[in-house]
Amino acid sequence: MELAVLDATLLYPPTPRKVNAMTIPRDGLAVLGPALAFALLMSDYVSNSQAQIKPEAFHRTIDGSQVDVYMLKNANGLEATITNYGGIVVSLMVPDKNGKPGDVVLGYDTLNDYIGNTPYFGCLVGRYGNRIAKGRFTIDGVVYQLAQNNLGNALHGGLKGFDKVVWQAEKVDSSDGPALKLTYTSKDGEEDYPGTLRCTVTYTLTNKNELKIEYSAETDKPTFVNLTHHSYFNLKDGGASDILGHELVIKASRFTPVDKGLIPTGELRSVAGTPFDFNKPTAIGVRLASEDEQMQFGTGYDHNWVLDRQGKDLELVASVYEPTSGRFMEVLTTEPGLQFYCGNFLNGTNKGKGGTVYQHRTGLCLETQHFPDSPNHPDFPSTELKPGEKYTQTTVYRFSAK
Ligand code: GLA
Repeated sequence: MELAVLDATLLYPPTPRKVNAMTIPRDGLAVLGPALAFALLMSDYVSNSQAQIKPEAFHRTIDGSQVDVYMLKNANGLEATITNYGGIVVSLMVPDKNGKPGDVVLGYDTLNDYIGNTPYFGCLVGRYGNRIAKGRFTIDGVVYQLAQNNLGNALHGGLKGFDKVVWQAEKVDSSDGPALKLTYTSKDGEEDYPGTLRCTVTYTLTNKNELKIEYSAETDKPTFVNLTHHSYFNLKDGGASDILGHELVIKASRFTPVDKGLIPTGELRSVAGTPFDFNKPTAIGVRLASEDEQMQFGTGYDHNWVLDRQGKDLELVASVYEPTSGRFMEVLTTEPGLQFYCGNFLNGTNKGKGGTVYQHRTGLCLETQHFPDSPNHPDFPSTELKPGEKYTQTTVYRFSAK
């Protein structure tokens, strides 16, 4: 008998909770038989055993704010576990072609691991995702200097970017499916960016088997904004083996070549005849040994593609197919660019969920965004946000199997 697969949308704190229309506070378990009480206590772990996420491993106060994990489960049984620390997607359970669910994102079992050392596993990235050359930009004649946290450049929002802050979390029900609304206010001057930025990010696990991410932000002074999401996907086995056999499509005729520090040169280069042409499904590993200088600079793929878009609405821009599991992921976005990073810096030093050691290229990131270093490239689509304007972006990761 399945005692308690509940409406377990909030994993922790689990009290009070509904069991067969009764509400049983956790302290009330003593009045039940010991076996029943034990079963109820364990039920959250049982129902989520494949994800191996224990809620108490994330229950902690940081900077005076409560951190927890939240579970979204859609009508088809897909499950996403998300923490409001950094807005990190901790696990994402998706069926393979035989209907067997498996976790398709890399990450950790505990909050402490994320705090200790993470290569941006599953997080929200901001205020500016990707790189800004020399950590410097100018607005209205004023030069701003950010922390240079990556080879003399600024990467992913700084020393304490949006991946390392506690977001306020609110579970919201939508007609699309269960959702988690996260809000964070970044103060004027935080990480040396101008303007107080009020951000909202809503994760919805839709009943069409999509992880939908909707971002919005408003500022009180001109600033730069480029928000994105940094899940490392491995559709085969969640990171136990490499992603070289994953077949990728990116609908883009051009990409932004970079210098050795991975800063765009400003050129929009044709992908034709290069290892950067993913207009037809191509296994990621096939051209990695190419002597193309760009592949040397990136030590593999770590570049921004200029998406071939029809307009500004949500549009299919990329897909990944993994032949052994049959899992298929499509990426839809409103953004002009896509950073494809194939886990070049993973090197076996991150011991993740269930003890899995993430070796070289065991995860891939598809970061929908504006182009890197846009503040210093007036020709690129602008990332400037002014008071009275609203920044919005929507990205969908849609799952199926074949
Ligand atoms: C992005 C960057 C990479 C790397 C990863 C995190 O994808 O483009 O260079 O910094 O994040 O390790």
